[in-house]
Amino acid sequence: MSLTIRPYADGDRSAVVALWRAANLVVPWNDPESDIALCRSKPATAALLVGELEGRVVASVMVGQDGHRGWLYYLATDPDCRGRGFGRAMVAAAEGWLVAQGMPKVQLLVRETNTAVQGFYERLGYARSPVTMMQKWLRNSA
Ligand SMILES: CC(C)(COP(=O)(O)OP(=O)(O)OC[C@H]1O[C@@H](n2cnc3c(N)ncnc32)[C@H](O)[C@@H]1OP(=O)(O)O)[C@@H](O)C(=O)NCCC(=O)NCCS
Repeated sequence: MSLTIRPYADGDRSAVVALWRAANLVVPWNDPESDIALCRSKPATAALLVGELEGRVVASVMVGQDGHRGWLYYLATDPDCRGRGFGRAMVAAAEGWLVAQGMPKVQLLVRETNTAVQGFYERLGYARSPVTMMQKWLRNSA
């Protein structure tokens, strides 16, 4: 059975949060439910896509654009479903969304501790960017 990629729907919340936890994407300073709500409140510039297999959410990617570049977040596949092309398919869907938005480039952040995923992105044609990211919270951080 093949993966069906579709926009996140109301009933997906617990499955998506469980997927993110299983993929070690949830950190103390990012509340997943708030991140989902924020993404869904900006439908013109952001989307959360899920991959469904036999009625079960097994993959996700959050995609957005800031008026200049496209960004990917929360890419995950269920640990039991890896190596089947689902990650590649989710990235392709997100890239398609960005192309439709007129974005010329896609970027993403990889935590320094997440060395395993770098080979995956390189396989999909991504390269390390020689930049230093700087950041500042605009609300009280956790
Ligand atoms: C990264 C992740 C989404 C990959 O999902 P996946 O469904 O196993 O990936 P795919 O099966 O689509 O793999 C696509 C290609 O990448 C390769 N690949 C997958 N993981 C790889 C790795 N760690 N290193 C090198 N290549 C890798 C596959 O062999 C495949 O190659 P091919 O299509 O040329 O045969 C999954 O491992 C995951 O959820 N990781 C935890 C969450 C995470 O780190 N997300 C990214 C945060 S920045």
